[in-house]
Amino acid sequence: MKVTEKQWAAFFNEINPGFFDPDHDKRMQKDKPSSEMFLNLREFDENCYEKKFSENVTFGYLNKDHDELLAVVKKVMPIWVPLFDGRTNVYCGFVDGKIVSFCMVEDLGEHILVGERVNIGSPGCAGTLPEYRNRGIGLVMLRNATKILRDAKYDYSYIHHTYETEWLKKLGYEVVLCWDERGILWS
Ligand SMILES: CC(C)(COP(=O)(O)OP(=O)(O)OC[C@H]1O[C@@H](n2cnc3c(N)ncnc32)[C@H](O)[C@@H]1OP(=O)(O)O)[C@@H](O)C(=O)NCCC(=O)NCCS
Repeated sequence: MKVTEKQWAAFFNEINPGFFDPDHDKRMQKDKPSSEMFLNLREFDENCYEKKFSENVTFGYLNKDHDELLAVVKKVMPIWVPLFDGRTNVYCGFVDGKIVSFCMVEDLGEHILVGERVNIGSPGCAGTLPEYRNRGIGLVMLRNATKILRDAKYDYSYIHHTYETEWLKKLGYEVVLCWDERGILWS
């Protein structure tokens, strides 16, 4: 399916109504444009990124103490703390059972994209504690979360508001829109 920039923009407005209203809190983290990224899950290669870990590194849905998660989120990105309100599934990387990496796994629902009815899922707000970065934990966690969406029969995986485009491209995600505080930056 070929989706134009205009169609992605319409989709963006559908799932983020009022986003470019002047009083909308866009949670800008950097003084540079942010990106929206998509991955067609029918084309997702689950072997795109591999890393070997020792046995004390594990991955899975969070089903324990929410306070531990909030403390980790606070260390990684304090402005995300209110977003982790306990209503969304959270998938994590653990070292010795402790959370070191996290992301939300959200259902964004059914949408019409270029006349086709599609289900969209989103692994959002991914972060790794600074002292555990560059070991492959965050990317394997996000690869697994993407695989979970694919296996749950979502058609597309969508990542909203990211600056880490080169990192996400390693999993096959593509930039479909860039924007700044004033609105979409048309290419
Ligand atoms: C972005 C972030 C989640 C990366 O976590 P991480 O656990 O360090 O990432 P990984 O170690 O799994 O990265 C895997 C690979 O990507 C590389 N990489 C790490 N950060 C990268 C970046 N910002 N850009 C490009 N490549 C990166 C690693 O060197 C590693 O390379 P390899 O191919 O040699 O294995 C982490 O830096 C973070 O928490 N940042 C703050 C929150 C944030 O901006 N999140 C982005 C939301 S999408």
